Amino acid sequence: MHSKQLLALASLASLIQAQETVLGVYIFHRHGDRTSKSWPPASLTDLGYHEVFSSGQFYRDRYIDANASNPIYNVSPNLVKNSQLNVQAPVDTVLQNSASGFLQGLYPPVGATLGSQTLANGTDIEAPLNGFQLIPVNAVQSASSSANSENSAWLQGSSGCNNAIVSSNNYFYSEEYLSMLNKTADFYQSVLPVINTTFTSAQDSFKNAYTIYDYIHVSEIHNSTIPSSDLLTPEVLHQLQTLADNHEFNLAYNASEPIRAIAGSTLAAQIVQQLNATITGKSAQQVGIQFGAYGSFFSFFGLAQLPSVSVNFTGIVDYASSMTFELVTNATVSQTSYPSPDDIYVRFLFANGTAAANPLSEYPLFGQQQSPLPWNTFVSEMGKISIGDQASWCKACGNSSGVCASADTASSTGAQSSSKSSSGSGMSLGVAGVIGAMVTLGVIFGLEALIILVGGLRLVPKRRLNITTAAVTPVAKV
Ligand SMILES: *[C@@H]1O[C@H](CO)[C@@H](O)[C@H](O)[C@H]1NC(C)=O
Ligand SMILES: *[C@@H]1O[C@H](CO)[C@@H](O)[C@H](O)[C@H]1NC(C)=O
Ligand SMILES: *[C@@H]1O[C@H](CO)[C@@H](O)[C@H](O)[C@H]1NC(C)=O
Ligand SMILES: *[C@@H]1O[C@H](CO)[C@@H](O)[C@H](O)[C@H]1NC(C)=O
Ligand SMILES: *[C@@H]1O[C@H](CO)[C@@H](O)[C@H](O)[C@H]1NC(C)=O
Ligand SMILES: *[C@@H]1O[C@H](CO)[C@@H](O)[C@H](O)[C@H]1NC(C)=O
Ligand SMILES: *[C@@H]1O[C@H](CO)[C@@H](O)[C@H](O)[C@H]1NC(C)=O
Ligand SMILES: *[C@@H]1O[C@H](CO)[C@@H](O)[C@H](O)[C@H]1NC(C)=O
Ligand SMILES: *[C@@H]1O[C@H](CO)[C@@H](O)[C@H](O)[C@H]1NC(C)=O
Ligand SMILES: *[C@@H]1O[C@H](CO)[C@@H](O)[C@H](O)[C@H]1NC(C)=O
Ligand SMILES: *[C@@H]1O[C@H](CO)[C@@H](O)[C@H](O)[C@H]1NC(C)=O
Repeated sequence: MHSKQLLALASLASLIQAQETVLGVYIFHRHGDRTSKSWPPASLTDLGYHEVFSSGQFYRDRYIDANASNPIYNVSPNLVKNSQLNVQAPVDTVLQNSASGFLQGLYPPVGATLGSQTLANGTDIEAPLNGFQLIPVNAVQSASSSANSENSAWLQGSSGCNNAIVSSNNYFYSEEYLSMLNKTADFYQSVLPVINTTFTSAQDSFKNAYTIYDYIHVSEIHNSTIPSSDLLTPEVLHQLQTLADNHEFNLAYNASEPIRAIAGSTLAAQIVQQLNATITGKSAQQVGIQFGAYGSFFSFFGLAQLPSVSVNFTGIVDYASSMTFELVTNATVSQTSYPSPDDIYVRFLFANGTAAANPLSEYPLFGQQQSPLPWNTFVSEMGKISIGDQASWCKACGNSSGVCASADTASSTGAQSSSKSSSGSGMSLGVAGVIGAMVTLGVIFGLEALIILVGGLRLVPKRRLNITTAAVTPVAKV
């Protein structure tokens, strides 16, 4: 009797002390500091290398190290087990190199003791570079196999998603855009002496808000002298940045045209797929990492209703920013008992700039009042914004040729498993950027495409309309 009480007390105590276990994570990461898009090819700078490397070190200290603050269940602490990692980046030098730099921080060289193997004849062989560890970075596998190249001014073209391209192009016909173009004409001309070696007077307008901002921003970091730099007061720099924020957010997300956020939709599907595989595999592959563009952050932020949490989510994320989805549980986890999905939660975190120097903060997703979100709630909310398989992608994008030639005639579910149209060469990634190119698709055509599209895609709730308006207004002050 007495011992029974003790037992009950003991189990109560262990309940109270329940330590959260991280079962797995998904990290979506921006590249580090790079050269300007105006001087292609863009490349990762030494500063950028430091940023992604230190971010990798930060996540190592949080998740991987033997004495990590929030260790991931069963993860190998020193010698990398490549089967536990799924690392992806588009085929792009800046993003691929950023991923490699990050991984060097996540799994640094292990030295001579761990980093050597004994051969059959008894000879010890050490890995080069003091036990450097090789970790593959795979090309992003998505429904569209999009390659968001840092060499293109705007990234939507490379999504290859017809309706998304049309939707983004329609931005250039919107009242918001046209009035901003008009209001800011004098402002842009006032900085022409700073940029006239690279931009003509005709190019010097809100139409090129991002490339102009990028050119000046990169020069501010790297050029010791800038022509007419006296024009670049803090207010002017701030204005250039917020105008670029406004321009890029609107190109990446529009509450009434969810297809514009295709990059966020495919990312959402990839996140759920990876985290679900972590659960079904009982944390056999528990670390998902993807490097991508700020436009994908924007699209996801919009779809996940983060601008209603903070207007900050309508600003371009800094270099080496990361958003992290932690799969966590308070249930007991051991070799013999893995928690059921009902006991698993997802925590969303974001660091603006390298997490080594900027706080990794928790935010509630989908306008929910709680964080972390129960796994099942997370799955159903992500499901509303996800586009994950080829058939749904083709349908939502209104594409019917190339990889989509046969997909649209197949039944909408299960078509992705068919082997037809699997040739990668069907994907044209060479769609030119919107900026500087003639916008040839009319508004009417765009609206028609939208009406067709609405049949194939779940619409986001109406109230997000207000959110975007509210979110954009403060940024838009000129
Ligand atoms: C973690 O362990 C390493 C060596 O194993 C040690 O150098 C480091 O100080 C430890 N960190 C903490 C926070 O205890
Ligand atoms: C052992 O094998 C390795 C690889 O074949 C070779 O380089 C090395 O010379 C051998 N050592 C001896 C002592 O035979
Ligand atoms: C989708 O359609 C657009 C416009 O027709 C085309 O440029 C793009 O290459 C297509 N994407 C794929 C993946 O076939
Ligand atoms: C967003 O989409 C709506 C509906 O198509 C359109 O009226 C509006 O101009 C768009 N806004 C922007 C900024 O693209
Ligand atoms: C802006 O709009 C006003 C009023 O319609 C017009 O008078 C002015 O010329 C426009 N400015 C530019 C730069 O287009
Ligand atoms: C750029 O503007 C400055 C200042 O107005 C002028 O001196 C210079 O000649 C211009 N350079 C070019 C290439 O137009
Ligand atoms: C900064 O330096 C680069 C490389 O020398 C040059 O191409 C660029 O025009 C410079 N930026 C400015 C604002 O002059
Ligand atoms: C998770 O994976 C299992 C096994 O592949 C599958 O049956 C299930 O539908 C997946 N769940 C989600 C939410 O994707
Ligand atoms: C928004 O950004 C500002 C400035 O960086 C910061 O002080 C504030 O805490 C941020 N708000 C949220 C909700 O993260
Ligand atoms: C990140 O920082 C930039 C300023 O560099 C800001 O414009 C943006 O709103 C911030 N984003 C978030 C989500 O805090
Ligand atoms: C685990 O328990 C702690 C302490 O009660 C709580 O703060 C945390 O949110 C819980 N985590 C989950 C995933 O339920």
